[in-house]
Amino acid sequence: MRNIVAPRERLIVALDVPDVAQAERLVAHIGESVGFYKVGMELAYGGGFGLVERLVASGRQVFLDLKLHDIPNTVERAVAQIARLGATFLTIHAYPQTMRAAVAGRDGSALKLLGVSVLTSCDDADLREAGYAFGVDALVARRAAQAEAEGVDGLVASAAEAALLRARFGDRLILVTPGIRPAGAASGDQKRVATPGQAIRNGADYLVVGRPVTQAPDPRAAAEAIVAEIAAAC
Ligand code: C5P
Repeated sequence: MRNIVAPRERLIVALDVPDVAQAERLVAHIGESVGFYKVGMELAYGGGFGLVERLVASGRQVFLDLKLHDIPNTVERAVAQIARLGATFLTIHAYPQTMRAAVAGRDGSALKLLGVSVLTSCDDADLREAGYAFGVDALVARRAAQAEAEGVDGLVASAAEAALLRARFGDRLILVTPGIRPAGAASGDQKRVATPGQAIRNGADYLVVGRPVTQAPDPRAAAEAIVAEIAAAC
């Protein structure tokens, strides 16, 4: 099930910029050093779907982080549309109904689905406030098992969760890990961070890195240093 490729393919750079021109400048600067980019809601709604198609046409892979959740009919049809863009990964919220609909919608395409178990902005009190009977750990474990049962390909998880999920699910789920900070980099708003090497050793398949690359004085050099750290930890 795990589809591990070269260290360079395991780094996903998050294009968290407000417009397509900025994203294209960044991609051009980084050049061949990165082959996988994440496009989230900000850039997608800022005209980024065309960029997704251009990145794919140029041989790059794209992670579309759209976190879909709606009634099954709408999710299924939306996923079928998204599958035509040629992205590699798409996120959906890991509700059983939503996951079933997304699996039906991507049928026949190469699109892989990643479940978002519990948003990392939520703690136990937030879940209680929203009416849940489970705390974060229990809900993550429950939704991970449901994701596997529904045929979802993987999960987005912090490096700490990656270790637990890898131990529990072996190689049956792809683990994509944000919250990555090379030693010495600013944490920013990320609370639970890991270095690239720690995340790989914890079992992450892919690392999502935004600001440590995009806001570096030399984004290409920053990306190359992370790929070297991934290679050393493999
Ligand atoms: O700049 P930074 O490396 O913190 O960016 C991490 C990226 O991963 C951002 O695009 C953020 O939205 C995303 N992400 C995250 N935590 C999650 C899911 C996605 O940081 N649980």
